[in-house]
Amino acid sequence: MDDEGSSHEPERRNEKALKGVARDAAPTRALVVVPWRSERPPRGEGTDAPNAARSLDARREEAIGLARAIELEVVSDFPVKLREARPATLLGTGKLEEARALIEAEKIDLVVVDHPLSPIQQRNLEKEWKAKVLDRTGLILEIFGERAHTKEGRLQVELAHLTYQKSRLVRSWTHLERQRGGFGFLGGPGETQIEADRRMITERIAKLERELESVARTRALHRKNRKKVPHPVVALVGYTNAGKSTLFNRLTDSEVFAKDLLFATLDPTLRKVRLPHGGDIILSDTVGFVSDLPTTLVAAFRATLEEVIEADLILHVRDIAHEDTAAQAHDVETVLSQLGVDPLNRDRMIEVWNKIDKLDPDHRAKLLEEGERTSIDAPTALPVSAITGDGVASLLALIEDRLNRDRAVFRVEIPSSEGELVAWLHRHTEVIAREDGEEAVSLRLRVPDKDLDHFRARAGRFIREVRGRVIEPRRDDEPPASKPYDPLA
Ligand code: GTP
Repeated sequence: MDDEGSSHEPERRNEKALKGVARDAAPTRALVVVPWRSERPPRGEGTDAPNAARSLDARREEAIGLARAIELEVVSDFPVKLREARPATLLGTGKLEEARALIEAEKIDLVVVDHPLSPIQQRNLEKEWKAKVLDRTGLILEIFGERAHTKEGRLQVELAHLTYQKSRLVRSWTHLERQRGGFGFLGGPGETQIEADRRMITERIAKLERELESVARTRALHRKNRKKVPHPVVALVGYTNAGKSTLFNRLTDSEVFAKDLLFATLDPTLRKVRLPHGGDIILSDTVGFVSDLPTTLVAAFRATLEEVIEADLILHVRDIAHEDTAAQAHDVETVLSQLGVDPLNRDRMIEVWNKIDKLDPDHRAKLLEEGERTSIDAPTALPVSAITGDGVASLLALIEDRLNRDRAVFRVEIPSSEGELVAWLHRHTEVIAREDGEEAVSLRLRVPDKDLDHFRARAGRFIREVRGRVIEPRRDDEPPASKPYDPLA
């Protein structure tokens, strides 16, 4: 087992999170405000509006899921149709009032607004509602803060958090300065305090960056050591809740934290997995993506996501039963592109269409058939259910096939009398095709590196083709294959 990425340090309570709210006492009562626009802009456009291409129901569900991910008690949600974003408060006065009444009546402590807010909007809403307000970016940062387990993960989240705070401080400071300037307070204690805060944050950021650099160096060293045992790395990526951890557990027979909880996995977890013909891979489960993932976080997680960047193969796990599966896939592809990974590179990517058990039987049968049809040549997608295990064996076979694509294909002709050798070949090599003749069995196969010597010793004299090149049969008076016979030499 190789799990440098998964530390067992106790989970950190994010002390800074939701200051003033006692996390161990009664849960914080929260209202989730979901601003939405009725029209669905074409894909790739309207990215200023979170979840632009999504259905309202799915967006409500996701926003509530995000709030529950930091154990908030979601008392109610409040969809608001947004015709235009107001610079001061985002929402119009009517909706502001309506929300305030609800907040008062329900004794809400915290309002989550599922939209990015400017510092001014956030402050105005807090004043208006007399409650703490958290925007989508702030909420995601809180979740990441709670989920980071390794030292590197924690440092990265803190860095992203401070960068976010710093930008707010600078902007609100500019705003305050203008205000104070009007009253002749420029240079007063308020400004000094903000300047001091800003300096402190800048210093802390510099320190964190230094620490991160040293952690990243250690990590690179681990990775280099791992490369000495040259197992290919296969990384799982996907939208949050797509089922990555469940699939990871299914493939590795392990018990990684998988729960209906957004961002259950933050730091990459690595495990060794055996492929059908005995080759080993390192499987890496990584952080889930979400629409409007703050860019500071994508940048901060670059180091952690190096597992993905450097992976030999990337499995994009999709919740194919989700109504917004296409929009989610698009978001994941966007993040991959930001990381410098080409999501359209078919040699490196496999789409795993997960949760087919949730589909109606007709839809499921169609997907399975589609998967089967494509899985011989160059499949780019494979339907599975991580819960029932359907399709998982085909997925492993496909991973093997992809990783072995560059490996030579042999054709061997084994006399029918050598049944034991045929059985051995079936066990130790990847048999792509088999034809049973009267006197011989003809097999096309690929051989895992570790079995190549053994294969040559046992079956060398029966090799008839390598990479399409014909090998003349060996004559009987040649010495037996006690010495490895290497037709590639
Ligand atoms: P993040 O940690 O948020 O990135 O999520 P994840 O992609 O690791 O998802 P996870 O494995 O935690 O699964 C999310 C939820 O989906 C859990 O409730 C799983 O039980 C459920 N789930 C995963 N795979 C399947 C599946 O094949 N079928 C069904 N019905 N549910 C599934």
